[in-house]
Amino acid sequence: MPHIQLLSPRLANQIAAGEVVERPASVVKELVENALDAGASRVDIEVEQGGVKLIRVRDDGSGIDEADLPLALSRHATSKILTLDDLEAVGTLGFRGEALASISSVSRLALTSRTEAQEAAARVEVEGRDMDARISPAAHPVGTTVEVRDLFFNTPARRKFLRTEKTEFNHVEECIRRQALSRFDAGFTLRHNQRVVQSLRPAESEVDKERRIGSLCGQQFIDNAVIIDAEATGLRLWGWVALPTFSRSQADLQYFFVNGRVIRDKLVAHAVRQAYRDVLYNNRHPAFVLYLEVDPATVDVNVHPTKHEVRFRDGRLVHDFIFRTLHRALADVRPDDHLRGAVAQSFGREPEAAVANPAGNPAGMGASLPDQAPPVAGGYANRGGFGVGSASQPQQEWKASDQMAFYQSLNEGGGVASRPDNVSQPVAVTPPRDTDEEPPLGYAIAQLHGIYILAQSRAGLIVVDMHAAHERITYERMKHALAEQDLKSQPLLVPLSLAVSQKEAALAETHGEELQHLGLQIERIGPETLAVRQIPALLRGADTEQLVRDVLADLIEHGQSDRVEAVTHELLGTMACHGSVRANRQLTIPEMNSLLRDMEATERSGQCNHGRPTWTLVTLSELDKLFLRGR
Ligand SMILES: Nc1ncnc2c1ncn2[C@@H]1O[C@H](COP(=O)(O)OP(=O)(O)OP(=O)(O)O)[C@@H](O)[C@H]1O
Ligand SMILES: [Mg+2]
Repeated sequence: MPHIQLLSPRLANQIAAGEVVERPASVVKELVENALDAGASRVDIEVEQGGVKLIRVRDDGSGIDEADLPLALSRHATSKILTLDDLEAVGTLGFRGEALASISSVSRLALTSRTEAQEAAARVEVEGRDMDARISPAAHPVGTTVEVRDLFFNTPARRKFLRTEKTEFNHVEECIRRQALSRFDAGFTLRHNQRVVQSLRPAESEVDKERRIGSLCGQQFIDNAVIIDAEATGLRLWGWVALPTFSRSQADLQYFFVNGRVIRDKLVAHAVRQAYRDVLYNNRHPAFVLYLEVDPATVDVNVHPTKHEVRFRDGRLVHDFIFRTLHRALADVRPDDHLRGAVAQSFGREPEAAVANPAGNPAGMGASLPDQAPPVAGGYANRGGFGVGSASQPQQEWKASDQMAFYQSLNEGGGVASRPDNVSQPVAVTPPRDTDEEPPLGYAIAQLHGIYILAQSRAGLIVVDMHAAHERITYERMKHALAEQDLKSQPLLVPLSLAVSQKEAALAETHGEELQHLGLQIERIGPETLAVRQIPALLRGADTEQLVRDVLADLIEHGQSDRVEAVTHELLGTMACHGSVRANRQLTIPEMNSLLRDMEATERSGQCNHGRPTWTLVTLSELDKLFLRGR
């Protein structure tokens, strides 16, 4: 073995750089974080050739005192923490005191800076294997500019991993997107090869913030998002989550910030996925921009050199809080929220509520807000009305006896067994006169091909997929009943005998209790025979045989899953699907209106159990466009 020797500062820094400086975007991240830590209100980023040739970040922050300049580029030197206590409650983005040292060991870096107190600016560069600092006078306003040229010029192994200019720049753009989402109070400009790619002014009002999100994440996202703001036990979660019907095929629109730091975290990801479980197809991904604020002392940010991960002191509490808040918010989504953008468009102006009460919740009001505000006249959605984190909305509507009768009549009257020979007669009536209290989904005017309900609302034409909508309503009712241990079972007059496989028979036997809990009483009366004795009262009239087979198939597929609730809900979903009104079922106008009112009152009614939309709006202006009609 050769003798042990101390590494030269440059080599030590190059090794450290291996962890933090992966590509140009990592440099941009570190430099912009420094600018934000310095209190900048403006950050200008300039990049050439994807950042490989040049990265220049200029800010109007506090600047660095000339005497501190030699230290700025050396390792283990930081102005952000001094003691272990500081580290345990760190409030800045940086704290390791090594980003600049690392970057300057694998590029040609120059930093120019001036503080308010100084007359003139100074510039620092490092050279040689000892990375000695060289200071020279320079011209610069208060603030700092860091220039990084020829990244990886001296580390060919790293350079080989660089991708095309376009790919590298995409990473830079994504990095700026995250930073700009993390700090609304700062303005950002991004230039690539002398072309302005992004220019964002500081966003102060809620409207400005939404505009910024629109330009960073797409207007579609913000049009389809609901506002979250909840506080509990020292935690606050706020931001925007997309409606389930705006799901994505990739997890590419998911931003989660903890105390202003963008992170990727398994615990957070799981909590979010669980909150969407009931409303999204398995292979779809939700979209969100969310901010979690916690006491810095309860989260460890010193977990990974890139600081993309954190560790919560009480992970369970955080998981629970995120899950509950989002779950509640998604359950509370009503047609009003979907209609927000559409109505505004239809009337050619901004939604009043959104303007008068810009984007809702002023900071800190979260949990104290009232629950879902009543619909604003004209169907405008009150975006501020999200009382997430507060008591759930009582679901009295479906308990009303006339609605029960309606459902029973749906289920009994051939709602399950479809009648293909039944060619539906078009039904139409004049809707009630326009009043200020028009419900968001309007009034039914006709049924189309036995599949869709057409309704007239102020905004235009509402088209409802009646099976999908009824499926969700039934499902939510069943869940509710189940939660209250109230899923009444009803004996069948003649028990239904079912021929099944041995495996299925055994399964029904071992899961007897679970099935009973679902309102199904099934007995094994032979090696391959089951007798169904009781079914949920909710589903009388349903195709019992199909129902039991589907439930067993679900059980086989999910096996001994410990996610009892998920399985239960999936089983309920299957039951709801079979128990719901099928195509070609003729509904009367009062029945259709009843369904519309139920949708308005039902949690998650905007999408069926598989995440497909249950209804859509064709606005008057869209209709006008079809007929080239100027309004
Ligand atoms: N844009 C800037 N404006 C003002 N001060 C800066 C700026 N960039 C760097 N500094 C100063 O230089 C020091 C070193 O920066 P560097 O990024 O290397 O470390 P850090 O930010 O303290 O920690 P980390 O390695 O976690 O980023 C900072 O602590 C800060 O005092
Ligand atoms: Mg830093």
